[in-house]
Amino acid sequence: MKKRLQNSPIGIFDSGVGGLTVVKELLKILPNENIVYFGDTARVPYGTKSKDAVIKFSSEIIDFLTKKNVKLILVACNTASALALNTIRRKVGVPVVGVIEPGAVSAVSTTRNKKIGIIGTEATIKSKAYEKTIRKIAGSCKIVNRACPLFVPIAEEGWVDRKVSEIIAGEYLKLIKKAHADTVVLGCTHYPLLKNVIGRVLGKNIKLVDSAAEVARKVKNILQNKKLLNTLKGTGHMQFFVSDAPEKFKRIGKIFLGKKILSVSKVNIT
Ligand code: DGL
Repeated sequence: MKKRLQNSPIGIFDSGVGGLTVVKELLKILPNENIVYFGDTARVPYGTKSKDAVIKFSSEIIDFLTKKNVKLILVACNTASALALNTIRRKVGVPVVGVIEPGAVSAVSTTRNKKIGIIGTEATIKSKAYEKTIRKIAGSCKIVNRACPLFVPIAEEGWVDRKVSEIIAGEYLKLIKKAHADTVVLGCTHYPLLKNVIGRVLGKNIKLVDSAAEVARKVKNILQNKKLLNTLKGTGHMQFFVSDAPEKFKRIGKIFLGKKILSVSKVNIT
């Protein structure tokens, strides 16, 4: 039974292509794992939606992934991690990993002056999920929050190095610069794509924290501890599902994943 579960896939989801930045890191340290990825492209963005809506969408995706017999669920979306993680955990019998806690841990270990900037979707910032988690770990940090709602469509457009993206980033990041934060958390899985632009605006003395690598390590640890690592060599198959526009997912997803996506299936999960 355990053997069968070892060979089962890891289920991963995001509102769209953003979660692929986490998959990219996962593949580096867990190349043998099979992956089932769901991108809710019909309903992206999540960051402007209500908590109830994000919980409903996430629950529907979890039902879909559960039918794929996944051995672990990775919520590769900050918005869903901030608003729906507890609901998801109650729904399933497999380990569930979100991206907020690993991002908060990285931020705390990176900052020297204890001033941390958090950027994310409106819903993530409003939830104060990062702030609460960072305070639990490090108590006395000063935290500056800024929602950057235009970053998701810019990243989805593939405008990773355009002048216009830099101008928008300049507007959003004014407050963070003013607060003299030395560390900024990229609190949305779409944002690592805009790392160059954000880095240019903030300057090289500010460290950008992208939780993807930390999340990947956490997944590996859990699988190791539960003896659920896939032992079959030469596996590592990826299956991609979306709720709309599979061709666009293939095209833009390639930039996020850093390699070609061979096939994407459209499914109706509602
Ligand atoms: N990539 C997601 C996140 O990490 C959601 C972006 C969105 O759909 O608004 O928050």
